[in-house]
Amino acid sequence: MQRTILLAVTLALATGLTAVTAAPVNYQLPDEVAAFKAGPNLEIVQANCSACHSADYVKTQPPMKDKKGFWQAEVTKMIKVYGAPIDDADVGKIVDYLAATY
Ligand code: HEC
Repeated sequence: MQRTILLAVTLALATGLTAVTAAPVNYQLPDEVAAFKAGPNLEIVQANCSACHSADYVKTQPPMKDKKGFWQAEVTKMIKVYGAPIDDADVGKIVDYLAATY
């Protein structure tokens, strides 16, 4: 008799616990913050610079004196070192956008 009660209590507890763990968990993902800023040729930059990493890589560069030279070198590095498939015709537009916007 006592065993039956114990079993009942154990079962009740177990079901109670299951109910708690099975409750739906709702959480809100943070907003996408790593977006390229608005600027001329934004679409070209989005099309060419979003495939491998987020826009944070562009956003988090230290202040620089020669923006154009820096971004020219950076875009060249993406192409030569990391194999980014970027059209020659787009390189100038991307560099202009980056130098003007970041
Ligand atoms: C083919 C893949 C690829 C594409 C496309 C690409 N990158 Fe990268 N990028 C990389 C890799 C790999 C790294 C180095 C990642 C690391 O160190 O964690 C990197 C790093 C960077 C960095 C950080 C500084 C550095 O030199 O490591 C910047 C800034 C950057 N990329 C800008 C760009 C821009 C601007 C474009 C578009 C013109 C672009 N990337 C397109 C692969 C790519």
